[in-house]
Amino acid sequence: MDLLTVRNLGKIYAGAVSYEALADIDLTVAEGEFVGVMGPSGSGKTTLLNMVSTIDKPTSGEVRIAGQDPYRLTYDQLALFRRRELGFVFQAYNLLQTLTVKENILLPLVLDGVPLGEMNRRADEIAAKLGISAILGKRTYEISGGQAQRTAIARALVHRPKLVLADEPTGNLDSKAARDVMEILEKRNEADRTTMLLVTHDPAAASYCHRVVFIKDGRLYNEIHCGDSRAAFYQRIIDLLSMMGGTEHEFSPVRHS
Ligand SMILES: Nc1ncnc2c1ncn2[C@@H]1O[C@H](COP(=O)(O)OP(=O)(O)O)[C@@H](O)[C@H]1O
Ligand SMILES: [Mg+2]
Repeated sequence: MDLLTVRNLGKIYAGAVSYEALADIDLTVAEGEFVGVMGPSGSGKTTLLNMVSTIDKPTSGEVRIAGQDPYRLTYDQLALFRRRELGFVFQAYNLLQTLTVKENILLPLVLDGVPLGEMNRRADEIAAKLGISAILGKRTYEISGGQAQRTAIARALVHRPKLVLADEPTGNLDSKAARDVMEILEKRNEADRTTMLLVTHDPAAASYCHRVVFIKDGRLYNEIHCGDSRAAFYQRIIDLLSMMGGTEHEFSPVRHS
């Protein structure tokens, strides 16, 4: 079954000079699939993710998630849809500093009025899976970047969303922490069949995906599938990126918006 369908999607940012950031994007993601989105800086990756996650509205085209067009929902329905069906992971973690790790993780459930006992059970379960049980009581300024991103992932998964959207989740992490984060996402994808759409600059991170689609100048450029060997997939990703004419710094796993 297709969990996500994007048809003929386009985005023009209006302004003094309007800018076509996306055009003619067609993308289908099956339930349980783990798909990467790559492309040079400014190619429209975040724009695509924002259209899918309903953070921003497309100028043209259609998005369907789990059979629903989120853009046809009322404001309240959309809020509920996003809270229930989607999970978000960002480069900057977006944790609330005044809350503990546990409180951050529980936020989606609090908003949804889940009973306290059930919330505690779910927080403990997801924390154990992500290896952050020991830091649940800490404030977010007391933990490392890797722990912060695991916390953000726990928050994105705790309500068991159908689709997880991640924009450069390893962008601020060193390579060891980045690998840990990707292994966690891979494991959740395999164990729970959570569908994942991951934007990344990092070929090592992208190599965890089943498939990577490449965007250039707001248009689909190519897509490649992971075969039997992740090492070979990694190499093909690098080859494709260099063919697209990205510069070396864009392959770096660190710091990109
Ligand atoms: N809110 C906005 N208003 C105007 N232009 C934007 C806006 N957001 C992004 N853009 C432009 O759209 C293009 C694609 O941006 P983005 O999707 O962030 O690229 P990527 O994530 O691939 O680096 C860039 O040229 C960027 O400057
Ligand atoms: Mg971006």
